[in-house]
Amino acid sequence: MKNKVMSIVLATAMMATVAMTGCGSNERAQQAAATKEAAPVAEESAATEEATTEDAAEASVASDAAGFEKGATIGISLPWLGTQNWKEAEVMFKEQLEAEGYNVIVQAADQKVPQQQQQIESMIENGAKVIVVGPVDGSQLGSVLEQAKASGTYVIGYDRLIENTTGVDGVVQFGSVKTGELQAQALLEGLTKEKGEGPWNIELFGGGPADPNAPNFFTGAMSVLQPKIDDGTIVVVSGQTDFAQCATVDWDNSKAQSRMDSLLSGFYADKEIHGVLSPNDGIARAIITSCENAGQPIPVVSGLDAENESVEWVWAGRQYSTVAKPTDALVSKTVEIINSLQAGNGMPATDVLTNNGKIDVAIYELPPVVVTKENAKEAFANDPGRLELLK
Ligand code: BGC
Repeated sequence: MKNKVMSIVLATAMMATVAMTGCGSNERAQQAAATKEAAPVAEESAATEEATTEDAAEASVASDAAGFEKGATIGISLPWLGTQNWKEAEVMFKEQLEAEGYNVIVQAADQKVPQQQQQIESMIENGAKVIVVGPVDGSQLGSVLEQAKASGTYVIGYDRLIENTTGVDGVVQFGSVKTGELQAQALLEGLTKEKGEGPWNIELFGGGPADPNAPNFFTGAMSVLQPKIDDGTIVVVSGQTDFAQCATVDWDNSKAQSRMDSLLSGFYADKEIHGVLSPNDGIARAIITSCENAGQPIPVVSGLDAENESVEWVWAGRQYSTVAKPTDALVSKTVEIINSLQAGNGMPATDVLTNNGKIDVAIYELPPVVVTKENAKEAFANDPGRLELLK
């Protein structure tokens, strides 16, 4: 009964906080911007994440929280293993959940929606009590996840929002609009430091359009860059400033490199390119390689993931910045939620909610951190593996 009342209170608060619908890329982007404006508590809560954890566990909001046995099966469904963060997640989920005594199934879907649907179906058949999902396509898992919920399985989104479905209990992720803002701020900072007086010539890249993070990263970045485009400080020489024009299908580095090759031959035969907004590290390295091949001086390029190779490039001055979103923190947060469910305490409380097109979803948000050569030692002070790369 108490739980029911809390659910109603929470639902009312959710409706008051965000009232948005729709899930196309543009709507997603608007939604991201609106969520940010509507819920300034989001960033605060990310910053005070440590402090709220205990209260949150006490103030469980889930109804019907029955708990389950410690040796239960937990399914982890990852979109692919094409970037370092997902490879780390594969290893860390196994290690951390097995250390807690769970039986763990981890699978990756090679960017294929039907493969991910089948993998999740088989996790349900195997009696998984919780399924953690980093979706290939944020909006294509609706029915299989509703099926999971109907069979009593908890569903937690990991790193990416799960859209257009009631089949999700919460999402653990780094602030995605914030990530884009950090990328664009680093780009402007780098241009100022390294490319003399403006105006500066730049190009824009986005991530995979099926990934709900990608339009959010882009929206965050454009909130910083658009005023500078408007006042003439920066010039997007190709004129390609819509997410759809800049997106990189499947986050495929080679597609980004081909687009960069075409942009350089089409628009920069007699011009220097000073900077490029890149949504992650793999794409950043593809862009830099393309510029080097074209005989351009290396432009200022942003990134994401603090992949080992890019950490080395940042240290060597070849890539200007990356954004760290430590996988171990995201996995630990997810495991903490799984333990809460296991103990019968339900989903922890959170102030951050995002409408996924069908329902307001509880978001457990961690803060991303921008990394340049200047702060790299400090940023990786607690990450011996990456610290080791700074020499
Ligand atoms: C993740 C990034 C990753 C990208 C491609 C995004 O959803 O947040 O960390 O680089 O997917 O795998």
